[in-house]
Amino acid sequence: MDRITLDITNALDSAVGPEQGVSLEELSDLRETASKALAAVQARRSLDLCWMDLPYQQEVHDAVLEYTASVEGRFKNVVVLGIGGSALGNTALHAALSSPFHDLAPPPGHPRLFVLDNVDPDLVGEWLDHFDPSETLFNVISKSGGTAETMSQFLLFRGRLVEALGEEAHREHIVVTTDETKGILREIVEREGYQSFVVPDGVGGRFSVLSPVGLVSSALVGIDIKGVLAGAAAMDELCKEAPLDENPALMYACLQWLMQEKMSKNISVTFSYSHRLRALADWYAQLLAESIGKRKGVDGNIVHKGPTPVRAVGVTDQHSQVQLYVEGPFDKWFTLLSVTQADHAVPLPSAYPDLEGVEYLAGSDLGDLFTAEREGTRVALTEARRPNVSIIFPRVDARSVGQYLAMMEISVAVMGELYGVDAFDQPGVEAGKVAAYALMGRAGYEARRAEIEASAPTERKII
Ligand code: PA5
Repeated sequence: MDRITLDITNALDSAVGPEQGVSLEELSDLRETASKALAAVQARRSLDLCWMDLPYQQEVHDAVLEYTASVEGRFKNVVVLGIGGSALGNTALHAALSSPFHDLAPPPGHPRLFVLDNVDPDLVGEWLDHFDPSETLFNVISKSGGTAETMSQFLLFRGRLVEALGEEAHREHIVVTTDETKGILREIVEREGYQSFVVPDGVGGRFSVLSPVGLVSSALVGIDIKGVLAGAAAMDELCKEAPLDENPALMYACLQWLMQEKMSKNISVTFSYSHRLRALADWYAQLLAESIGKRKGVDGNIVHKGPTPVRAVGVTDQHSQVQLYVEGPFDKWFTLLSVTQADHAVPLPSAYPDLEGVEYLAGSDLGDLFTAEREGTRVALTEARRPNVSIIFPRVDARSVGQYLAMMEISVAVMGELYGVDAFDQPGVEAGKVAAYALMGRAGYEARRAEIEASAPTERKII
């Protein structure tokens, strides 16, 4: 099969027992609810869930490729200034589809890529110590166009560029992706005349990876964005209407819901048995947490819903977290990301034929060891009655990664219906943004600042 597949065998009661696994009967009972949830999501695709159509926006894809071709070879570095949904997709695509060592030795004509999704002065200051803004293209991404972290970075790097290159020339070093009309960043784009792209209406930050938010930096480093989009479109077609048993996005949503709501497994671990796919787990963690982690249900009742995403990398975390996963509390379920065909063969030589303790490795390939370790973890989890599914990538390429992104986006949208929460708002994130504006003294937020100061503890307990 040339697409990613979902193996749910080890999440079933037949594999992990009736107390930990779901039964085929439970899944069958959910069939109608699942179809309704999917239909409710699909009915909104031409209304407010415009992210669903991103894989088909040919003109936008061509515009991104035209721009990136026009700057090919001009910059040594590309820096993404963005955070949350305006950053995680960029990192995920770069980690999955560029060489793990791309930034140490970029292929000719392609820049290094840095995603500075933090305002820690020891990150940003260190970047400035090592790299030259005048050799760099800054890809400023903010849907709202006002996020303090991104705007502060923009001010900083714009200032450095103007200092080094002057008012006029600095503009060629900035490309912006933001709302078409709203927000301060759009106003700045108009004023400065920066090259810009649009985050369309109906595309929230965490659902924006297939818009220019994720495409511009990817195309700049040489990722086959058309392949990613074709993969996403293929998964969208597969999952549009197919019934539960043939629909990986729908099945994954149902399993997540059953695991938490029926089996009390509050923690969802994405265990990437692929170094290159590890950042997909970070991207998914945000998608799941921000979409489903909600205080209120759609009916207005207080519900405090949401699974806690955890990320692990195989084999590294076998020597760190697997002990807990196999023997700790029964509060987790697991999604293994596995890859059928690695791109590299790395055979192991023989060196000490008389030492059986190492000789058994000789003649095999690192891929054999990697697969054995992954299967070992899968068996250990299953034998310890820990429900686990596998998302199997035939190989790590643009199409399969695009399929994964679309599958998880559709799945999380359906989860919103099953959990009865709005998967597309983020009042908790907004609350944090408002508090930061207030504490930074932004005009219009004085009352909030006074509230925060008034509620600060009068005595601190520090040990
Ligand atoms: O998914 C989301 O909506 C958030 O994580 C945002 O992406 C994040 O807060 C950054 O917001 P913005 O793109 O408006 O700067």
